[in-house]
Amino acid sequence: MWKLDRERLLEILCLPFRESGEKPRLVRISRAHVSGVSYLNIGDAGIRLLKDIAESGMMVKVRTTLNPGYAELSGERGECSPAILDKQREIAQYFIKMGAHSTFSCTPYLEQNVPKRGEHMAWAESSAVLYSNSVIGAWTNKESGIGALAAGIIGATSRTGVHTSEGRRPRLLVEYEGDVEDEVVAGALGYVVGERSGDDVPLIESEGLLSKERAIEYLAAQGASGASPMSIIRGMTPLAIRGPPDGLRKSRILDHDIRRVLEGLQNTYSPEAILIGCPHMPYASVRGLLSIINGRPPLPVFAFVSRRTKTRLAEAGLLAKLRSLGINVIADACVMWCGLKKLGYRSVVTNSVKGAHYLRNQMRVDAGLAPLSKLFKEQP
Ligand code: F3S
Repeated sequence: MWKLDRERLLEILCLPFRESGEKPRLVRISRAHVSGVSYLNIGDAGIRLLKDIAESGMMVKVRTTLNPGYAELSGERGECSPAILDKQREIAQYFIKMGAHSTFSCTPYLEQNVPKRGEHMAWAESSAVLYSNSVIGAWTNKESGIGALAAGIIGATSRTGVHTSEGRRPRLLVEYEGDVEDEVVAGALGYVVGERSGDDVPLIESEGLLSKERAIEYLAAQGASGASPMSIIRGMTPLAIRGPPDGLRKSRILDHDIRRVLEGLQNTYSPEAILIGCPHMPYASVRGLLSIINGRPPLPVFAFVSRRTKTRLAEAGLLAKLRSLGINVIADACVMWCGLKKLGYRSVVTNSVKGAHYLRNQMRVDAGLAPLSKLFKEQP
């Protein structure tokens, strides 16, 4: 019978060298972050694969955290069917048996698996990969879910792409002179940069991207439309690039390029719910909602967070307060959450370009965009 053992995991890690015929080279890693956790993405075939690995006794060798799934595992809210909950719990159980930490968050770089500059890692969630490389200066390619898991078990990954200095060199100079007035424009800019750069590392200079919140949305959207694992954001990315490097392909992004993305992600129907937390919201941002909302928001709100953030909110007595205002805090799950189907929402609005892109293309939900500053003030 076909079996996924260490040899096969090593073969997976060496795949990038097979095409070029080069001798495989590996680099030791200190952290892994695994995607392919959601039942929506991996289905029953994925569960069988995880079961095989877990039952083989193989364990991760480095700190390994998990991306969000399709459901909140406590099942406390009853918005996902028992059958889906069982599948999602089974997935969690196999990963935990392999030694992974049950974080279920797409922002491990904020808590629970925080990288340091120059650390080699194997991460799979694209938004986390781009943030780690571009803002923290850690080194990770955009791994597949199984690639990151294999690397976590072996403790190494292929020394290719941005694990080499050559792979971190920018190849595309992005010229953008417009404003980045909010997180939605930051996302639209990232989306265009992703489309234009493909798997080349882009170099961009924009004052408007120099805050953590904007960079998170810019990089998440770049990761949704492009293959490159990083952006060099001048003034933010820890790389010594002085003056424009020579010989770069150039690409100018104009206001109408941004408008094209925003107009393509407009609601067709009136939205029925507000989704925030793609990538997952940190504790301070959720707490901050209480100071920006004035009364009950116009629509039910679903805020997606890590399990740890939800626990902290509960301990601070904020969860009940948020709930009384119509803000539902969902842990363990991605915005592509089973509850959306069960609640029957046809149309939603979010402040995340990445979120709107996937909600439309994968969940087939009509998803539109508005920045947080507007979401709670007016009917979008
Ligand atoms: Fe996170 Fe899901 Fe968005 S994994 S980045 S909430 S699409």
